[in-house]
Amino acid sequence: MKTERKILLAPSLLSADFAKLGDEVKKCETGGCDILHADIMDGHFVPNITFGPLVVKAIKPHSNLPIDCHLMIENPDQYIEAFAKAGSDYISVHAERLAHAHRSLSLIKECGAKAGLALNPITPIEFAFEAAEYCDFILLMSVNPGFGGQKFINSFLRRAEALREFLIKNDLEHVIIEVDGGVKIDNVEQIVRAGADIIVSGSGLFSGDFNANTKQMRINAEKGLI
Ligand code: DX5
Ligand code: ZN
Repeated sequence: MKTERKILLAPSLLSADFAKLGDEVKKCETGGCDILHADIMDGHFVPNITFGPLVVKAIKPHSNLPIDCHLMIENPDQYIEAFAKAGSDYISVHAERLAHAHRSLSLIKECGAKAGLALNPITPIEFAFEAAEYCDFILLMSVNPGFGGQKFINSFLRRAEALREFLIKNDLEHVIIEVDGGVKIDNVEQIVRAGADIIVSGSGLFSGDFNANTKQMRINAEKGLI
């Protein structure tokens, strides 16, 4: 099935002001973003710790934007239902932590959310090929997960190209690709050209003038679709 590509801008709340998250998510909506990217870290799978379903539930009423929970945690299956109940519209789980990926992706869908598989920068891309038909989206990390503000790892570009080619060849174009890490105004065009549809950016949007950054990010991203 051929689907028209569309850019979905997803600000990473990791770079937002946690003391006023309600206002920050409103700012994302009025600034013209499409999805709220929530980074869930447990201090085990990644060295950092962020927040859990209670915070997702707390921010939900403050905007109409869908919430994308990126689970960077051990035992993700144990928490999928809680994140879905808290209001997550998209949930991604890391390939590196899935004993039964098919079961986890099915569970996300049963809970009513869009199911995503996330891959670290050096996890074999073939994992995504096998899982693609069970996914709504595939998140390719372009930094090592754990922190905002890191440098984009270039191998994302060839990995996204290979994945996109696979999706087209296998009639799976409705499965969209998410990029996460080091995405800025000046590299987003080539990132979209390589195949990314959901553009996660934390420091690239929240540092400086958020509305101006968002506007320019979309303009540059859309250049990559042509
Ligand atoms: C990293 C997170 C990212 C991070 C991106 O583990 O998954 O979502 O917040 O931040 P930037 O855009 O600053 O690299
Ligand atoms: Zn993330």
